[in-house]
Amino acid sequence: MTHKRTLVTCALPYANGPVHIGHLAGAYIPGDIFVRYLRMRGEDVLFICGSDEHGVPITIKARERGVSPQDIVDQYHQVMKDAFSGLGINFDIYSRTSSAVHAEHAAAFFRKLYDQDNFITQESEQLYDDQAKMFLTDRLIEGTCPKCRNPHAYGDQCEKCGSTLSPDELLDPKSKLSGSTPVKKKTKHWYLPLNQYEPWLRDWILEQHKEWKTNVYGQCKSWLDGGLQPRAVTRDLDWGVPVPVDGAEGKVLYVWFDAPIGYISNTKELLPQSWEKWWKDPDTRLVHFIGKDNIVFHCIVFPSMLKAHGQYILPDNVPANEFLNLEGDKISTSRNWAVWVHEYEEQFPGQEDVLRYVLTANAPETKDNDFTWKDFQSRNNSELVAIFGNFVNRAVVLTHKYFGGAVPASLKPEPIDAETLAAIKPCREALEKYIETYHFREALKEAMNMARIGNKYISDMEPWKTAKTDMDRTASILNTCLQICADLAIAFEPFTPFSAQKLRDILRVGIDAGSDHRAGEGTPTVNFYREGEGRALHTGIAPSQDIVLNWEMLGSAQLLPAGHQLGEAVLLFQKIEDAVVDAQIARLEAIKAQREAAEAARAAAEAAKKVEPQKAEVTFDQFDAMDIRTATVLAAERVPKTDKLLKLTIDTGLDQRTIVSGIAQYYAPEDMIGKQICILANLAPRVIRGIESRGMILMAKQGDGKMRFITPQEAVVNGAVIG
Ligand code: MF3
Ligand code: ZN
Repeated sequence: MTHKRTLVTCALPYANGPVHIGHLAGAYIPGDIFVRYLRMRGEDVLFICGSDEHGVPITIKARERGVSPQDIVDQYHQVMKDAFSGLGINFDIYSRTSSAVHAEHAAAFFRKLYDQDNFITQESEQLYDDQAKMFLTDRLIEGTCPKCRNPHAYGDQCEKCGSTLSPDELLDPKSKLSGSTPVKKKTKHWYLPLNQYEPWLRDWILEQHKEWKTNVYGQCKSWLDGGLQPRAVTRDLDWGVPVPVDGAEGKVLYVWFDAPIGYISNTKELLPQSWEKWWKDPDTRLVHFIGKDNIVFHCIVFPSMLKAHGQYILPDNVPANEFLNLEGDKISTSRNWAVWVHEYEEQFPGQEDVLRYVLTANAPETKDNDFTWKDFQSRNNSELVAIFGNFVNRAVVLTHKYFGGAVPASLKPEPIDAETLAAIKPCREALEKYIETYHFREALKEAMNMARIGNKYISDMEPWKTAKTDMDRTASILNTCLQICADLAIAFEPFTPFSAQKLRDILRVGIDAGSDHRAGEGTPTVNFYREGEGRALHTGIAPSQDIVLNWEMLGSAQLLPAGHQLGEAVLLFQKIEDAVVDAQIARLEAIKAQREAAEAARAAAEAAKKVEPQKAEVTFDQFDAMDIRTATVLAAERVPKTDKLLKLTIDTGLDQRTIVSGIAQYYAPEDMIGKQICILANLAPRVIRGIESRGMILMAKQGDGKMRFITPQEAVVNGAVIG
């Protein structure tokens, strides 16, 4: 260990929607596992997060809802904060970029770079809404896609055909604010000349950080190989941190400039006296947990900012994950395709660990991965319940049954007992190696292997059978099992902290889970077990009668002394029934069906609007040659074995005749009877399906094929000539 302390950050989520399982799997659960693990190992760790409350999407959402951006971020900040803590993700601070400390700190950061001449300025022409008096970002411009003619393409992208666009390419661009046509206007911005940092970045990342995860390293390499351009760090907008220099009225810091500075300001808010050692002392190791869409900002842009500033340390690692899909589809807030964390917490109370477990076991560490409710159920039922929970329950229940709930002394040991206990150590070593190299899936597998070892041992030893003949041997077997239970109460603490705590309550032991900084710079706190209190934070030294587990004990043979009284057996995990996951799947299917119906309706509405081009000119005589007149439907029936045809009996004023018409899709026969219509009476007869049809019913036909018959506005006699 070459560092004295570790500063862990998780990406500051945008406060424009609640957090979903994709966020959790990408950054927050791995970050939390890492922090819990390091704390158990006695490291000084600071865990920083907060809401990212600036940026254009928040202003768009506010406008859509007719509220202020601050209203939007206030709402989601609270929802996200509660969702994280509900899952046991306990940041030392979860603050927000709309805070005063942040505004001051971000402005000062910019000002320092400005004073040091680290920026260049550039004037450029940007699209401007003359009515709304605002510069327009790409997302605020809508127009027709030049490639697929989708009339609702954005200035940066067409969501229909997927092409990347620039606002210039849109056919007939319109401002989404006022609907007016944008005009070009000159504006000046400050740029960070990333090109100047390229040689340094190449060396720092490509040479000195070859240990970064391959997905992260690969993305950095391709950015660097593509060549870096200066990046604007200011925007024309009225929501954000104002640019603190003269001549910058109406401009704010670009959200991707201010947000990462939020990591620093949140640290400063928590630890006003001692924050600097976390950010400026090279003995601090800085680790950013993020999703893959944030890689360039955390590996290239933010480090360049820190480097330019000159006083800050750089990240030691950026273990970014890929994306998690949901039931085979990309998770999307705007399409409501997600499992929302706050909803999960409401619907699955007491089962927070199941989600933590599944998202870790299935984490998109090296490639995109899929979350399915069936997999959620089967991992719960066949791993957590059937292996971990089942093992612990059998060990504890049998101890109560045969030994009054006190850990029995090992009266008749056999080599298999020691061998089984010895098998825990290698799992622990592998687990440590995996966590320290950010391979959390593999680390979790090792913890689960410990449970498997216990479960297999108890199944093979069958203490319920030995109890009939040999109590001394039974005592040894259960002693061994209970030692493994204590191992699990340590090993699972980083992954499934609620269940690990439940297990420690059953075993009546505490744990030294390390110190945190939630109380600021105050005294570190350690978690002990206290009768009747469950897990509580106690300051200072545990009373001597307490058994306090710690990470270093994991895999050592004797964690629980003979005679130690256990608590009641309670189930660690509950089986999840089909009905529960079926309801979740049905919810998603309904969302998908609703979306497909809405898409179909939109497509149909577009198609219906399509107007046929005008036909070639005709003379008056040609028109006059057509005998168009009113008539009434006397009878109607479907033409057998066809979907489209109706056979109509018509009173034309001249005669009664039969007309076969292709309108069965739009009118039922009974709807037609008695209706007054218009017909072309002198159309040459045709035989359709063996029926002679004389004339044609006039229909208005929309672009999507839908037809409606034409009726005189008021009833007229049959045979009135139209023209
Ligand atoms: N809000 C960004 C996102 O959700 C992440 C910001 S991370 C920070 O993608 F470094 F800028 F804070
Ligand atoms: Zn398109």
